[in-house]
Amino acid sequence: MHLFYCLTRRALLQSNTRPHLAATVTDAELQVVCLDLLQAGMETVSNTAVFLALHCMRDEDVQMRLHREIDDVIGERVPQLADRGRMVYTEAVILEALRISSVAAVGIPHMAVQDAQLGSYIIPRGTFILLALHDLHNGPQWEDPHVFNPERFISNSGKLISPDSFLPFGCGRRRCIGEALARSELFLFLTHLLQSFHLETPPGDPQPSTDPVNGVTLSAKPFRAVFKPRATGFN
Ligand code: HEM
Repeated sequence: MHLFYCLTRRALLQSNTRPHLAATVTDAELQVVCLDLLQAGMETVSNTAVFLALHCMRDEDVQMRLHREIDDVIGERVPQLADRGRMVYTEAVILEALRISSVAAVGIPHMAVQDAQLGSYIIPRGTFILLALHDLHNGPQWEDPHVFNPERFISNSGKLISPDSFLPFGCGRRRCIGEALARSELFLFLTHLLQSFHLETPPGDPQPSTDPVNGVTLSAKPFRAVFKPRATGFN
């Protein structure tokens, strides 16, 4: 945490674009921002990354299609964020993992600042509110909600779509500020990983379970994986 704080302070001091920030942001404010970024941004992304690997191991067809897209678009060079626009299937796999394994299961607590009405529900001022995002993403509004199916995020014309019931990063003024960073990290994680390896369940082990372990964020139950180097890098 201290290292992160020092690096952020130095970046502010060296910033050419917003030099006034270095003078106006207090140490306490900067420490809280660093804590926010570390707490909200690390476990969420790393737990989602583990679920991504888990879903690839459980579904050979998904993993094969990812390998194919990585080989076609990226080949043997280092994956770049600029590749994202041409990798619709990979992006859809990330969205499907964010849906079915919603690690921020109840979002971040909010409080009603005034009396409100939502449909037929009266919400008195001061009510503590949690977003049931995991339930929203695994409920009956989705076709076969318990099936890992990235195609649900791809339109007939081959474009990415975002259904109304899909809110992994919340909504409104307090929605996640880290969405772009998280999605970039997950893209680079998945493409780097599957460019080099084929993930398998060790012989004799059961398939990894999709049932989450409860916590501040949901995580996967421990499982073992074989990282099999891809001989040629191409299927
Ligand atoms: C897979 C990764 C992530 C998921 C699923 C996720 C999800 C969420 C959700 C559901 C909320 C609550 C939004 C609401 O109340 O409407 C939230 C808030 C927040 N997230 Fe993320 N997040 C992720 C990654 C990150 C990253 C990488 C960062 C920062 C580096 C971050 C920083 C924050 C912060 C600071 C808030 C509070 C925003 C506010 O209250 O104004 N998150 N996130």
